[in-house]
Amino acid sequence: MTACALESTDLRRVFGAYPTGVTAVAALVDGGPVGITANSFTSVSLEPPIVSVCVAHTSTTWPVLRTAARLGISVLGAHQERHGRALSERRADRFGSLRWRATADGAILLKGASAWLDCGIEREIEVGDHDLVLLRVHALDDDPEVPPLVFHGSRYRRLSA
Ligand SMILES: Cc1cc2nc3c(=O)[nH]c(=O)nc-3n(C[C@H](O)[C@H](O)[C@H](O)COP(=O)(O)O)c2cc1C
Repeated sequence: MTACALESTDLRRVFGAYPTGVTAVAALVDGGPVGITANSFTSVSLEPPIVSVCVAHTSTTWPVLRTAARLGISVLGAHQERHGRALSERRADRFGSLRWRATADGAILLKGASAWLDCGIEREIEVGDHDLVLLRVHALDDDPEVPPLVFHGSRYRRLSA
């Protein structure tokens, strides 16, 4: 390993060597569903219950999404690659035929996911070209029967036994 000028292509490739799950962060805003795909989701604290996502300053959806009182985080199931693609595309009707439900507070949870968290923004910290968003978890659930979708090396993958 040699020290050298850090190119963004190298950073993306090496950061992408770390496998993650894939989440949908979504809420109702002005009565309509708004959301993005995010693989930066991480659990942070048990007491109080806090998770985080990192959102790029280039996101056009985040300034809208962050105005919602509650954000739903759905951990995508292995069969939900289509959901990951749809919610990361810059197009008008991202939710199209996706099946989802909204909580009374407006968090959007995708049906058929592996796990769900109903969160409120606790703090946003500007870090370089992203915002580190700390979210307090108000409710959560999971379906252990649904295996998770994995993102690794810029590709969607599935776990195998
Ligand atoms: C698998 C995957 C993971 C992503 N993870 C993040 C993420 O953690 N943070 C982020 O800001 N954007 C992430 N994106 C990009 C957003 O989903 C979205 O494409 C981006 O915010 C541009 O759309 P927008 O301008 O509507 O926000 C990810 C995209 C994909 C396909």
